Amino acid sequence: MIAKTYLDRVIAPSLLAADFSKVGEETSRAINAGADWLHLDVMDGHFVDNISFGPAMVQTIHESNDIFLDVHLMISRPDHYLPRFIAAGSDLITVHVEADHDVAETLERIREAGCQAGLALNPATPFSDVVPFLDKIDLLLCMTVVPGFGGQPFMEDQMEKVSEAAAYRKEHNLNYHIEVDGGISAETAAIAAKAGANVMVAGSTTFGKKDMAAAVTAIREA
Ligand code: DX5
Ligand code: ZN
Repeated sequence: MIAKTYLDRVIAPSLLAADFSKVGEETSRAINAGADWLHLDVMDGHFVDNISFGPAMVQTIHESNDIFLDVHLMISRPDHYLPRFIAAGSDLITVHVEADHDVAETLERIREAGCQAGLALNPATPFSDVVPFLDKIDLLLCMTVVPGFGGQPFMEDQMEKVSEAAAYRKEHNLNYHIEVDGGISAETAAIAAKAGANVMVAGSTTFGKKDMAAAVTAIREA
Protein backbone atom coordinates (compact mmCIF):
# COMPACT_ATOMS: atom_id res chain seq x y z
CA MET A 1 0.00 0.00 0.00
CA ILE A 2 1.22 3.49 -0.83
CA ALA A 3 1.70 5.57 2.30
CA LYS A 4 -0.67 8.51 2.42
CA THR A 5 0.28 11.98 3.58
CA TYR A 6 -1.93 14.86 4.61
CA LEU A 7 -1.62 16.14 1.05
CA ASP A 8 -3.61 13.13 -0.19
CA ARG A 9 -7.38 12.95 -0.07
CA VAL A 10 -8.23 9.75 1.80
CA ILE A 11 -11.73 8.27 1.64
CA ALA A 12 -12.62 6.06 4.61
CA PRO A 13 -16.07 4.47 4.45
CA SER A 14 -17.46 3.74 7.91
CA LEU A 15 -18.47 0.13 8.40
CA LEU A 16 -21.16 1.25 10.83
CA ALA A 17 -23.41 1.86 7.83
CA ALA A 18 -22.68 -1.54 6.25
CA ASP A 19 -24.86 -4.65 6.26
CA PHE A 20 -23.52 -6.52 9.31
CA SER A 21 -24.88 -9.84 8.03
CA LYS A 22 -22.08 -9.85 5.42
CA VAL A 23 -19.17 -7.74 6.62
CA GLY A 24 -16.60 -9.55 4.48
CA GLU A 25 -18.51 -8.79 1.27
CA GLU A 26 -19.23 -5.27 2.43
CA THR A 27 -15.51 -4.68 3.00
CA SER A 28 -14.77 -6.00 -0.50
CA ARG A 29 -17.46 -3.69 -1.85
CA ALA A 30 -15.69 -0.73 -0.24
CA ILE A 31 -12.30 -1.81 -1.62
CA ASN A 32 -13.73 -2.29 -5.12
CA ALA A 33 -15.39 1.11 -4.87
CA GLY A 34 -11.97 2.71 -4.39
CA ALA A 35 -11.92 3.23 -0.63
CA ASP A 36 -8.45 4.02 0.73
CA TRP A 37 -9.10 3.09 4.34
CA LEU A 38 -11.91 1.34 6.20
CA HIS A 39 -13.15 3.27 9.24
CA LEU A 40 -14.20 1.07 12.16
CA ASP A 41 -16.34 2.70 14.85
CA VAL A 42 -15.94 0.98 18.21
CA MET A 43 -18.53 2.07 20.80
CA ASP A 44 -18.79 0.84 24.38
CA GLY A 45 -22.23 2.11 25.46
CA HIS A 46 -20.49 4.30 28.03
CA PHE A 47 -18.34 6.87 26.28
CA VAL A 48 -21.16 7.16 23.73
CA ASP A 49 -24.80 6.10 23.94
CA ASN A 50 -24.47 3.18 21.54
CA ILE A 51 -22.74 -0.20 21.34
CA SER A 52 -21.25 -1.36 18.05
CA PHE A 53 -18.51 -4.01 17.94
CA GLY A 54 -15.14 -4.85 19.41
CA PRO A 55 -11.74 -6.35 18.56
CA ALA A 56 -13.20 -9.60 17.18
CA MET A 57 -14.80 -7.65 14.34
CA VAL A 58 -11.55 -5.80 13.63
CA GLN A 59 -9.73 -9.13 13.50
CA THR A 60 -12.29 -10.74 11.19
CA ILE A 61 -11.94 -7.89 8.72
CA HIS A 62 -8.16 -7.87 9.05
CA GLU A 63 -8.06 -11.58 8.21
CA SER A 64 -10.44 -11.37 5.26
CA ASN A 65 -9.06 -8.27 3.49
CA ASP A 66 -5.92 -6.17 3.45
CA ILE A 67 -7.38 -2.67 3.44
CA PHE A 68 -5.86 -0.15 5.89
CA LEU A 69 -7.91 -0.30 9.10
CA ASP A 70 -8.67 3.07 10.70
CA VAL A 71 -10.02 2.14 14.14
CA HIS A 72 -11.93 4.85 16.00
CA LEU A 73 -12.27 3.98 19.68
CA MET A 74 -15.28 5.70 21.24
CA ILE A 75 -14.67 3.97 24.53
CA SER A 76 -14.01 5.25 28.05
CA ARG A 77 -10.87 3.19 28.72
CA PRO A 78 -8.87 2.96 25.48
CA ASP A 79 -5.75 2.28 27.54
CA HIS A 80 -7.26 -0.91 28.95
CA TYR A 81 -8.47 -2.32 25.62
CA LEU A 82 -5.53 -1.14 23.52
CA PRO A 83 -3.58 -4.45 23.40
CA ARG A 84 -6.64 -6.26 21.99
CA PHE A 85 -7.12 -3.74 19.18
CA ILE A 86 -3.42 -3.88 18.36
CA ALA A 87 -3.47 -7.69 18.25
CA ALA A 88 -6.60 -7.59 16.08
CA GLY A 89 -4.67 -5.94 13.24
CA SER A 90 -5.51 -2.23 13.46
CA ASP A 91 -3.30 -0.01 11.28
CA LEU A 92 -4.28 3.27 12.90
CA ILE A 93 -5.90 3.61 16.31
CA THR A 94 -7.68 6.81 17.28
CA VAL A 95 -8.51 7.54 20.91
CA HIS A 96 -10.53 10.41 22.32
CA VAL A 97 -8.91 13.20 24.30
CA GLU A 98 -12.06 13.26 26.50
CA ALA A 99 -11.75 9.59 27.53
CA ASP A 100 -10.48 8.46 30.93
CA HIS A 101 -6.77 7.71 30.31
CA ASP A 102 -3.30 9.19 30.21
CA VAL A 103 -3.53 10.49 26.65
CA ALA A 104 0.20 10.94 26.01
CA GLU A 105 0.95 7.47 27.34
CA THR A 106 -1.77 5.80 25.26
CA LEU A 107 -0.55 7.55 22.10
CA GLU A 108 2.99 6.44 22.83
CA ARG A 109 1.89 2.84 23.35
CA ILE A 110 0.04 2.86 20.01
CA ARG A 111 3.17 3.97 18.18
CA GLU A 112 5.42 1.58 20.08
CA ALA A 113 3.22 -1.25 18.83
CA GLY A 114 3.91 -0.15 15.25
CA CYS A 115 0.49 1.38 14.61
CA GLN A 116 -0.28 4.95 13.65
CA ALA A 117 -1.75 7.06 16.44
CA GLY A 118 -4.84 9.22 16.12
CA LEU A 119 -6.43 11.63 18.55
CA ALA A 120 -10.10 12.64 18.36
CA LEU A 121 -12.02 15.53 19.81
CA ASN A 122 -15.74 15.98 20.16
CA PRO A 123 -17.60 19.02 18.84
CA ALA A 124 -17.79 20.54 22.33
CA THR A 125 -14.04 20.15 22.99
CA PRO A 126 -11.83 23.12 22.17
CA PHE A 127 -8.77 22.77 19.96
CA SER A 128 -6.55 23.89 22.87
CA ASP A 129 -7.26 20.53 24.62
CA VAL A 130 -5.38 18.57 21.94
CA VAL A 131 -2.48 20.98 21.45
CA PRO A 132 -0.18 19.26 24.01
CA PHE A 133 -0.39 16.03 21.97
CA LEU A 134 -0.05 17.23 18.39
CA ASP A 135 3.60 16.28 18.10
CA LYS A 136 2.73 12.70 19.13
CA ILE A 137 0.08 11.86 16.53
CA ASP A 138 -0.34 10.79 12.92
CA LEU A 139 -3.95 11.93 12.68
CA LEU A 140 -6.26 14.41 14.34
CA LEU A 141 -9.96 13.52 14.13
CA CYS A 142 -12.29 16.50 14.37
CA MET A 143 -15.77 15.09 14.98
CA THR A 144 -18.38 16.80 12.83
CA VAL A 145 -21.27 15.23 14.77
CA VAL A 146 -21.70 14.26 18.43
CA PRO A 147 -20.39 10.68 18.22
CA GLY A 148 -22.61 7.65 18.74
CA PHE A 149 -24.74 7.32 15.65
CA GLY A 150 -24.44 7.42 11.89
CA GLY A 151 -26.69 9.53 9.71
CA GLN A 152 -26.52 12.82 11.64
CA PRO A 153 -26.18 16.23 9.98
CA PHE A 154 -22.71 17.74 9.44
CA MET A 155 -21.76 20.47 11.92
CA GLU A 156 -20.22 23.17 9.81
CA ASP A 157 -19.27 25.20 12.88
CA GLN A 158 -16.49 22.66 13.48
CA MET A 159 -14.61 23.96 10.43
CA GLU A 160 -13.01 26.68 12.51
CA LYS A 161 -11.27 23.93 14.52
CA VAL A 162 -10.15 22.18 11.33
CA SER A 163 -8.62 25.44 10.08
CA GLU A 164 -6.92 25.97 13.43
CA ALA A 165 -5.48 22.44 13.27
CA ALA A 166 -4.18 23.03 9.74
CA ALA A 167 -2.64 26.39 10.68
CA TYR A 168 -1.00 24.90 13.77
CA ARG A 169 0.43 22.05 11.70
CA LYS A 170 1.98 24.47 9.24
CA GLU A 171 3.32 26.78 11.91
CA HIS A 172 4.95 23.93 13.85
CA ASN A 173 6.11 21.93 10.87
CA LEU A 174 4.05 18.84 11.81
CA ASN A 175 2.42 16.37 9.44
CA TYR A 176 -0.68 14.80 10.97
CA HIS A 177 -3.69 14.02 8.82
CA ILE A 178 -6.87 15.93 9.62
CA GLU A 179 -9.88 13.64 9.53
CA VAL A 180 -13.54 14.62 9.65
CA ASP A 181 -16.23 12.17 10.73
CA GLY A 182 -19.98 12.61 10.66
CA GLY A 183 -22.37 13.86 8.00
CA ILE A 184 -19.78 13.70 5.21
CA SER A 185 -21.13 13.78 1.65
CA ALA A 186 -19.61 15.15 -1.56
CA GLU A 187 -21.03 18.53 -0.61
CA THR A 188 -19.76 18.66 2.98
CA ALA A 189 -16.43 17.02 2.03
CA ALA A 190 -15.77 20.05 -0.18
CA ILE A 191 -16.38 22.35 2.80
CA ALA A 192 -14.14 20.23 5.07
CA ALA A 193 -11.37 20.03 2.47
CA LYS A 194 -11.44 23.80 2.05
CA ALA A 195 -10.95 24.17 5.80
CA GLY A 196 -7.95 21.79 5.69
CA ALA A 197 -9.26 18.24 6.23
CA ASN A 198 -7.91 15.46 4.00
CA VAL A 199 -9.37 12.24 5.47
CA MET A 200 -13.10 11.91 4.85
CA VAL A 201 -15.04 9.35 6.89
CA ALA A 202 -18.43 8.61 5.39
CA GLY A 203 -20.97 5.97 6.37
CA SER A 204 -24.46 6.60 5.05
CA THR A 205 -23.23 8.28 1.87
CA THR A 206 -20.98 5.32 0.93
CA PHE A 207 -22.23 1.97 2.29
CA GLY A 208 -25.73 3.39 2.16
CA LYS A 209 -25.52 3.83 -1.63
CA LYS A 210 -26.10 1.17 -4.21
CA ASP A 211 -23.36 2.57 -6.46
CA MET A 212 -20.62 2.91 -3.87
CA ALA A 213 -17.88 3.55 -6.46
CA ALA A 214 -19.72 6.63 -7.71
CA ALA A 215 -20.21 7.77 -4.12
CA VAL A 216 -16.52 7.37 -3.23
CA THR A 217 -15.45 9.13 -6.43
CA ALA A 218 -17.82 12.01 -5.74
CA ILE A 219 -16.34 12.51 -2.26
CA ARG A 220 -12.80 12.21 -3.62
CA GLU A 221 -13.38 14.78 -6.35
CA ALA A 222 -15.47 17.20 -4.32
C1 DX5 B 1 -20.26 8.64 14.56
C2 DX5 B 1 -19.23 7.72 13.94
C3 DX5 B 1 -19.14 7.90 12.46
C4 DX5 B 1 -20.37 7.49 11.71
C5 DX5 B 1 -20.46 8.37 10.51
O1 DX5 B 1 -20.35 8.34 15.90
O2 DX5 B 1 -17.96 7.99 14.50
O3 DX5 B 1 -17.99 7.27 11.91
O4 DX5 B 1 -20.36 6.16 11.32
O5 DX5 B 1 -21.65 8.12 9.88
P1 DX5 B 1 -22.29 9.06 8.78
O6 DX5 B 1 -21.31 9.20 7.68
O7 DX5 B 1 -23.52 8.34 8.38
O8 DX5 B 1 -22.57 10.39 9.43
ZN1 ZN C 1 -15.90 7.31 13.50
